[in-house]
Amino acid sequence: MSKFKRTLITTALPYANGPIHIGHLAGVYVPADIYARYLRLKNEDVIMVGGSDEHGVPITLKAKNEGVTPQDVVDKFHGIIKKSFEDFGISFDVYSRTSAEIHHQTASEFFRKLYDEGKFVEKSNEQYYDQENKQFLADRYITGTCPKCSFEKAYGDQCESCGSSLSPTELINPVSTISGNKPVLKETKHWYLPLDQYEPWLKEWILEGHKEWKSNVYGQCKSWIDSGLLPRAVTRDLDWGVPVPVEDADGKVLYVWFDAPIGYISATKEFTSDWETYWKDPETRMLHFIGKDNIVFHCIIFPSMLKAEGTYNLPENVPANEFLNLENDKISTSRNWAVWLHEYLEEFPGKEDVLKYVLTANAPETKDNDFTWKDFQTRNNNELVAVLGNFVNRALVLTQKYYDGIVPEKGELNDADKATLAEIAKLKGEVEKSLNSFRIRESLKNAMDLARLGNKYLADEEPWKVVKTDAERVKTIMNICLQITANLTICLEPFLPFSMEKLRGFLNIEKMDWDKLGETDIISAGHKVNKPELLFEKIEDKVIEAQLQKLLDTKKANEMAEAKATPAKDNIEFDDFGKMDIRSGIVLECEKVAKTKKLLKLKVDTGIDQRTVVSGIAEFYNPEDLVGKQVSILVNLAPKKLRGIESQGMILCAENADGSLSIVSPDIEVKPGSEIK
Ligand code: MF3
Ligand code: ZN
Repeated sequence: MSKFKRTLITTALPYANGPIHIGHLAGVYVPADIYARYLRLKNEDVIMVGGSDEHGVPITLKAKNEGVTPQDVVDKFHGIIKKSFEDFGISFDVYSRTSAEIHHQTASEFFRKLYDEGKFVEKSNEQYYDQENKQFLADRYITGTCPKCSFEKAYGDQCESCGSSLSPTELINPVSTISGNKPVLKETKHWYLPLDQYEPWLKEWILEGHKEWKSNVYGQCKSWIDSGLLPRAVTRDLDWGVPVPVEDADGKVLYVWFDAPIGYISATKEFTSDWETYWKDPETRMLHFIGKDNIVFHCIIFPSMLKAEGTYNLPENVPANEFLNLENDKISTSRNWAVWLHEYLEEFPGKEDVLKYVLTANAPETKDNDFTWKDFQTRNNNELVAVLGNFVNRALVLTQKYYDGIVPEKGELNDADKATLAEIAKLKGEVEKSLNSFRIRESLKNAMDLARLGNKYLADEEPWKVVKTDAERVKTIMNICLQITANLTICLEPFLPFSMEKLRGFLNIEKMDWDKLGETDIISAGHKVNKPELLFEKIEDKVIEAQLQKLLDTKKANEMAEAKATPAKDNIEFDDFGKMDIRSGIVLECEKVAKTKKLLKLKVDTGIDQRTVVSGIAEFYNPEDLVGKQVSILVNLAPKKLRGIESQGMILCAENADGSLSIVSPDIEVKPGSEIK
């Protein structure tokens, strides 16, 4: 293992303001877990650290909205997250949290050392301040009108209507979301990490020294560095976080992105008193597993912090992944568009490995990928069941049938046997090669190829036929099948740990080291294997349909919430309303307007006259059903020609969440011509 003796794997600390979803898993935790399990199987010295990221403004906002404290919020989600990781089998050596005492202390000391050594630049600038509540306002605590698109509820850092990123002072009519008042600008002091000073070093270290990093990672670093780095504030005016350990810094905390990566150090401390070996010994290799939105923090900012501190190792690699979408739409915690891990575990008990498999087989390693329930079902049924499950089941069932479960002896090998054994022997190198370069999707495919090889061998050799004519030959065939099965328990162990434990139970063998992989005599003749059960089961259509329905329900709920959230129109005077002459009317005749999809032509008795109105409701009403129906009609609307027909008025309708229209009609019979006011 080259110049390194041990590995420290860090996994991005998830924000404790929501549960874990498949996007987190595919991007970070599943690949990190596979890699850690692989190294452990090789008996390497490895630890995998993680924890919840419990600071930052979004958590304080969530707390405020729910009328609870930030600590309540993070306690709740840290609990859910930690339990779901455990149940899913993400094999953290330690899973900590940034509100822990040890973290506050570690982060605080880290800052203080840099402060004492003059590694920060102190700067004052003006920021918005809420005078009523006597506090500076984080960007997210300020709303106002977007200068670009005039959306009235833009945030201080971003307009969610047009997507522009903003700074709070650009907002027109800024309002504090805490008091509802107009904030004032007030001078405040902060500490900055002068990233500009680290630029030459970063160029050398990454752009020259780490050309082997994944191209998406290297590319992002290069573009950041090439566009010039600016000093970055590492403190904030906020009352939730690690207090800035400096005199005169009341009401200030460390910026969440300053303290969070130090959480990796705190977690290691929590795990072992020997933590410094993992962080400072140059023979330790540090790997950061993250998603692409974290690249700049892990490749540029955190390394600059470590460099400034001076006694820590730098990451050796940062195998960041792209994003996973769900059914063609961006995963979003706030829109509830996700497959949540804790829900999956409840709804698919015993199928942890299925999700791991699908997320790995379809991992967003080089580009964004899409998770679909259909693909989930197909991969389970066609790959786990039909390829892997089918092969090991046949191997084990035939061994029971022919030999009562006793592994038979190999006889003389023919060419097919030799070729098959040669394939097995080659496997280790292939899986390792892809794993070592973090091409985890490919390594899973390599490993599954062994099961494919097994199926092919069985199909070619047909022991169930040969048994009738040459019983000796069948012993060799079955021995080889069992060697393949035993090898599968090694090469799939990092990917499918629950299932491989089961399979080892069927084979009646202990867990084997990675180094045994590729050996063709790892299960000896005479050994007794157990009666197998099914390793995987088919997933039926109705299960998938239920999941799709759940997503559809989410979509509907979102649309309804959005419709509700459309801001009301500006106030008008009573006189403005009085200008409208709305009457109750009765539909006398009704027909579709030829060659249109949406238009109906109605003749309406308005009590004043009988007039023709064209209305865009043909998709929602049958003409014959409308005859005799009461409607509300605006009669003093200027006439307008639609498709050559003069429409004299407007039928009032309510628009439903799905965009359909319902006629607004008095709920008892009223005389045509009655005024509606
Ligand atoms: N909480 C961050 C996110 O989800 C990740 C923090 S990673 C760490 O994007 F380095 F800061 F810990
Ligand atoms: Zn805008």
